[in-house]
Amino acid sequence: MYAGRESEIPRHGDYVLPEIAGESIIVTRDSSGRVQAFFNVCRHRGTRICAASEGHFEGRIQCPYHGWTYALDGRLLGATHMQEANFCREDYPLNRVHADLWDGHFFLNLSANPEPLMDQLASLPRKFAPWCMQDLRLQKRIIYYSHAMNLRPLWYARPPEVKLTTPVAVFTLLLNR
Ligand code: FES
Repeated sequence: MYAGRESEIPRHGDYVLPEIAGESIIVTRDSSGRVQAFFNVCRHRGTRICAASEGHFEGRIQCPYHGWTYALDGRLLGATHMQEANFCREDYPLNRVHADLWDGHFFLNLSANPEPLMDQLASLPRKFAPWCMQDLRLQKRIIYYSHAMNLRPLWYARPPEVKLTTPVAVFTLLLNR
């Protein structure tokens, strides 16, 4: 699924938090410049690590609950309260989400063994090549949500409660720089 533009995370440690199928995903750039994606869930007790929809990690990702820290490539670096002799940090990296790039866009795939993005895109990269999309810059994004109506009885004084729930469509306007 299309999830954003590489230019949204220009520096290592920058991140955005797209939501896919009800899952919050951390998309960041590691110190080698590679785009990385992880479920926004701490491996300790399952706490949501990030709340802000975008931001910057100062070299590491830290869970606000007990302070477990992860490298920008998802490796567990520090695990407080884990003195057990047989605890192995290598066994508890952030759970990875497959991220792939095409012409400045990043795509996320939640399946365990996804088909490579380029295979799924088939002839599209050739058709879109003249657009030079990697050179375009994000100008505006509009997200449409589905509405869940909590209908109340007619005699109830307040209007029906409308909740914005799942994003159903994302339109991205790209312009030449
Ligand atoms: S839940 Fe994240 S450090 Fe404990």
